[in-house]
Order: sequence, then structure tokens, then C-alpha cells
Amino acid sequence: MIETIINKTTIELLDRKISETLGKAHEYINEKSQEIINKNERHKYHLMPEIGWMNDPNGFSVFNDEYHLFYQYHPYSTKWGPMHWGHAKSKDLVIWEYLPAAMAPDQEFDKDGCFSGTAIQIEDKHVLMYTGVRNQKPGTNEEVTQIQCLAIGDGVNYTKIKNNPIISKNQIPEDSIMCDFRDPKIWSKDGMFYSIMGLRDTDGSGKLVLYKSENLTHWDYVGVLDYSRNKVGKMWECPDLFELDGEDVLLMSPQEFEPEGHKHTNGHSTIYFIGNFDYNTAKFEKNSYDEIDYGLDFYAPQTILSPDGRRIMTAWMQCWGRNIPSDKHGWAGAMTLPRELRVVDGKLYQHPIKEIRNYRGESVKYNNVEVNGSVDFDGICGKTIELQVEVDLKNANTFAMKVMKGDSEETIIKYDRESKFLTFDRTNSGGKIEGPNARKVPVELKDNKLSLNIFMDTYSIEMFIQNGEATMTSTVYPKLESQGIEFLSDDVVELNICKWDLTV
Ligand code: FRU
Repeated sequence: MIETIINKTTIELLDRKISETLGKAHEYINEKSQEIINKNERHKYHLMPEIGWMNDPNGFSVFNDEYHLFYQYHPYSTKWGPMHWGHAKSKDLVIWEYLPAAMAPDQEFDKDGCFSGTAIQIEDKHVLMYTGVRNQKPGTNEEVTQIQCLAIGDGVNYTKIKNNPIISKNQIPEDSIMCDFRDPKIWSKDGMFYSIMGLRDTDGSGKLVLYKSENLTHWDYVGVLDYSRNKVGKMWECPDLFELDGEDVLLMSPQEFEPEGHKHTNGHSTIYFIGNFDYNTAKFEKNSYDEIDYGLDFYAPQTILSPDGRRIMTAWMQCWGRNIPSDKHGWAGAMTLPRELRVVDGKLYQHPIKEIRNYRGESVKYNNVEVNGSVDFDGICGKTIELQVEVDLKNANTFAMKVMKGDSEETIIKYDRESKFLTFDRTNSGGKIEGPNARKVPVELKDNKLSLNIFMDTYSIEMFIQNGEATMTSTVYPKLESQGIEFLSDDVVELNICKWDLTV
């Protein structure tokens, strides 16, 4: 038994011993990650699984002054399976230390999966709120259930509580379907705990619902933030809600978003609403909304408030419904580089976390160089690099870069002044991916200039465009030796280029 923070009730923990299912996972991860993982074929500064499959970030939090990041984890294969929670911690959001997997599906209430959730520090305890899943038993009419659960830990070991589930079937509003009720985001405000999560409406669409609690174990339903009504995608997954720059910001990942022109062409989307949230009615009045990232691999983002007051986001650097060519090296899935968020004029901006600058090695710079046609620059190449490119388009209509270039591989980044679209195209990147392989985002030039801050790792490219006004995050799977970079234009353009090796 532990006393809860508020001393209003006591929470009973289940037996603290590591269950057979979790113990088996620990053993497997320890043994196999040594045996079969080729270090060269791994990311250098993106968190990825020791072995096997990773999806959503979970429980992104600060606990005892360190950053903790859990994740949806299936160590036994490179495919999604019964969900465990993997766990890592970091002092600077760049170098991650793996910790033992925190949870396995080992109780009656979560026997088919510990789905996504979040974490919060309460006094000296690390509290995880997640979705316990039970599938239909074959040959029965039993309902699939998704219910909300808690586990409590010390930063390494976590124990589920006896009172689980803490939000269950009898607490969902009418017009809802229990089989999709998941991904709680927990936070506290003015002595009260709040949690929002996704829920399926009986019309098949998604909605977000708010609960509140004084003691973590008894939760009251407050209301609905908003509905997708099958227009803003269908089911809404992985919500996050926070205040930033005087606004309320809601993030979520709607499944099966129908494309609208260049928007939502990725199948599943991630979006933000900026507006006003009412704690009494739960209503979220939105003033603006957009896709969070215009790349091919970005889903289920979560944020934290860093000790120095920055709102920092990371996301799963993948999308559902794709093959993942890194599976031949024993792993699939990674997290994005964490980004600092800001709201400016009703728009969400993203900036690479400043900590990554501590890993800049030697730089190679070219200032005010002209390009007309196609040019390579000595020393501007590589794969674990940061690239800052400022382009004055002068009278040119198109400017392009080919990166991670090899004999028969290239990834193309191209700006077209006439259409005002920046396009990212991995069709010929190497390692075939079934699914969309190009996306585009509208970009306004500033004083005739395009600014790109690009982070590349073994199998990823993240672009911060016009100082964080838009981002494009995608995975690519070229050969390790494909490291060339070429600059192209259809008329004279002037460039400032700086490249740093990232020495992580
Ligand atoms: C989002 C998601 C969540 C769910 C988890 C299962 O990617 O579908 O809604 O909790 O993945 O792994």
C-alpha cells in the first residue's frame, strides 16, 4: 500500500514481483539484442527499440529531473504484437539509456495489451496511466474492452494497482463504443487530476472525452471536447492538451483521414487545434487547425514541459500500414528528434531542441555561392548530419537538393516557386516502401528566400522549413554508403550552406 499524494485515499498495489510475462521479455531483450543487432544499421541519435517493434511514445515525462520516455513495444518481432511498455531515460533528450521494459500484458484487465498512455510525477512516485486491452475470446460474443489503468513506480520498476481499471465501461457516455476507448493523457491542475482520451462514437467516428479525479482512483466524466463526425478523420487517437504562449493547444492523431488536396495524404494524420478549453464543460472551442507535420512518417506525438519551461514534443517516426525495411536488421520504428513548440499568430511552430547543438562536430560552410544547374560542394555530404541551407531564389523557378545519394539512390527535396510547394520524394531512396512516397507542403518565400534546417540520421530525414513554420519528417532506407548531396536549380540561385557532422 502507498499513501497517495493527496492522502484522500490509499492505493493498493498488486504484488511487486516481476510477472512471468515481463520477466520473459526482459530475458529475451537482454539476450537477443546482443546477438542479432548490427550497430551500423541503427540510428545514431533517435530513440529506437533495442530489438523488435516500437510504436507510439508513451509516458513522456520528467521524473526526478530526468526525461523518461516509454513506448509501445513488441520485442519479439518487428511487427506489432501484444503491447508492452519499453522504457528509456535521458538527461538531455539526445542520449538515451535503456531501462528494463516497464510493463507487459500480464493481468486480467490488460491481458491482450498495455496500450498507449502518459505519465506524471506525484511526489516521489512515477504514475503511469494507460489503456488495458482485452480482446474477444474466439467463439464468444464477448466485447473487446479498452479500459483505463494505473501503474506506479520509482523510475525503473512499475507495479500495477489493484483498483484497476480506474475508468471502465460504466463510466463512458451513451452513444459510445467501448472497443475504442484509449490513450489517456493525464495532468494535474489546481489540486485536481484531469485526463482526456479518445473514444469511438456509435456513428463510427471519434471524439475526445474529459474525466477528472481528486485521488487518481475515482474518476468522474466531465464531457466531450470535440467530435470528428467522420469528417476530421475517424477514430481520434493519442490526444495531448496543454497551454502554450497564452493559447490552449490540442494535439491528436485521427485515423483514416480523407485527403484534401495536399493535406492528409498520409492515410492517418496528426493535427493540432489552437483555441480555448473550458475545464467545466470540457468543450474545446477551436480557432485554428492544421496538420502537425507534412512528412511521410509522423504519428501519435506527445509533449512535456521541460524543467526550464519549454513545451517539447516527440512522435513516432513512422506511419501505420507500411512495410518497414529496417526489419531485416531486427528492428522497426523510432522516435522523432524532440522539438520545441511555440504558437505564433495562431500557428504551431517547431524548432529542433537546442540540446542537439551540443553534438555538432566540425562544420563545413559555403557563403554566398551561386548555383546554376547542378553542383556538389566539397565536404557537404554525409548521413548523420545537420544541414542549414538558405536559398535566395533570385529569378529561378525551381531549387532542388538530392540527398543520401548513391549509385542508384537519391531522395529529392524540391521547391517550385510557381506552385509554392516544397516536395519531399523518397520514391528512389532505396529499400522499397509500399504506400505514399512523396508529400508536399505550401511554403511562402521570405524576402525571396527559402530556409531549410535538415537533420539526417541513418534512416530518417527531418526538415524544419522557414524557421519552424512547417516540418516534414520521413524515413528513408538507402544503403549506408549513399551519402552524396547535390544542389540543383533552373537559373542562378545564391546559397548559404552549413553542414555539421552530428557526433553522438
Ligand atoms: C496509435 C495506437 C493507439 C494505441 C496503440 C496501440 O498508434 O493505435 O491508439 O493505444 O497505437 O499500440
